[in-house]
Amino acid sequence: MDAPRLPAHLQFGTATAAYQVEGGVHEGGRGPSIWDTYCRTPGRVARGETGDVACDHYHRYGEDVALLADLGVDLYRFSVAWPRVQPTGKGRPNPEGLAFYDRLVDTILGAGIEPVLTLYHWDLPQALEDEGGWRVRDTAHRFAEYSRIVADRLGDRVNRWITLNEPFCSAFVGHAVGRHAPGTREGTPALAAAHHLLLAHGMAAGELRAAAAGDVGITLNPDHLLPASDSDDDRAAVERARTLHNRVWFDPLFTGAYPDNEDEVWGTMADGSYRADGDLEIIAQPLDFLGVNYYRPIMLRDAPHTEADPSVRTAVDIRTEQVAFEGVRHTTMGWPVIPETFSDLLIDLNRRYPNLPPLLITENGSAEDDRPDETGRVRDTGRVDYLRDHLAALGRAIEAGVDVRGYFVWSLLDNFEWAYGYDRRFGLVRVDYELLERHPKDSYHWYRDFLTSHRARR
Ligand code: NOJ
Repeated sequence: MDAPRLPAHLQFGTATAAYQVEGGVHEGGRGPSIWDTYCRTPGRVARGETGDVACDHYHRYGEDVALLADLGVDLYRFSVAWPRVQPTGKGRPNPEGLAFYDRLVDTILGAGIEPVLTLYHWDLPQALEDEGGWRVRDTAHRFAEYSRIVADRLGDRVNRWITLNEPFCSAFVGHAVGRHAPGTREGTPALAAAHHLLLAHGMAAGELRAAAAGDVGITLNPDHLLPASDSDDDRAAVERARTLHNRVWFDPLFTGAYPDNEDEVWGTMADGSYRADGDLEIIAQPLDFLGVNYYRPIMLRDAPHTEADPSVRTAVDIRTEQVAFEGVRHTTMGWPVIPETFSDLLIDLNRRYPNLPPLLITENGSAEDDRPDETGRVRDTGRVDYLRDHLAALGRAIEAGVDVRGYFVWSLLDNFEWAYGYDRRFGLVRVDYELLERHPKDSYHWYRDFLTSHRARR
């Protein structure tokens, strides 16, 4: 078969996230999240789309788990919506919210699949945002409490826990670029949010340990950053970006210290007022695995502008500019497809952080211009090529000594792609948003065949 052979111990799955698939935002006692608010703010999300209905997974999860079972995955990664469990982000849990995840977990287990649970995939309860959100320290305490509630309820059946998904996006895309909820553009508060997210992770990890919930990790989205030229300036630009994108997470988590070039990168923006003694010990506690999401490399050049144009610059301005890759295919996200950068990134991380825990590739996939033919078939060869080539790249990283235990395709279903809305399709399964019907694409069948031959070698 036209697919790479990977070590038999590797486990495979697909991933989704609550706000992107569930819908049912007014049901089961769920409170509003920052994404409900953001979607309702004119001009924020393409075509004014929202997660109100999304894939209607809240009602159709049985059908979706049946698709997973038929696909033959070992693992399924999903997220719990905090505002379903605690509608205002604090206080007594909402029984209906917990009951939904109880049913979902039981259905996943009943299909012979292991659930991998993400506690936070960006849907902060709006009530907490009203009190300062991730800019304030109290939100870390609230997150720890929420994590304990979920661990106490599901810890007997869920064995792998991801505290946060891509805190880079929550902190910087949400608070400095403004392209994600809550949509602000301020420097110091974005850096404070980054710190409070790390602290929230550490505190939640402590609660998960205390509840003996199982393996604990975090999902980061390290970028593979390349300089546009060999010039010292472009290489220095990449080092600044490495601090913003990668080191601000990896260094505290895996070396117990903030990056040593912080002052140069943020200047006075990181005033440190939000960091307290002892925080780094909470943040840096050992983890059982690290989740890595990877999609594409980024090329950068030095851009020493003096007058920041607020429409294009982020509030955390590190004086860099993205440069397009020439001569390679781009997905509908505008992302270049260069699979070998996936091995390069993993090998590089392994070298920089020798004490990394085993990795789970918690997301990888591509958005394509999928169109059903007259029979309804979606021949998404671009996605099949993308997955095959990235799996081969993963195999090369493993051969080079990177300890990888699992891989998840983003995503099982087409879903709500945040500020882009519904027209960026990442699914192995097409979702007809009018009828809410699911139609497996060619890539679904390809992945199923790949999994069949992988299992046969165990
Ligand atoms: C990362 C995010 O975790 C996920 O929510 C998003 O849909 C994918 N990347 C694709 O952009």
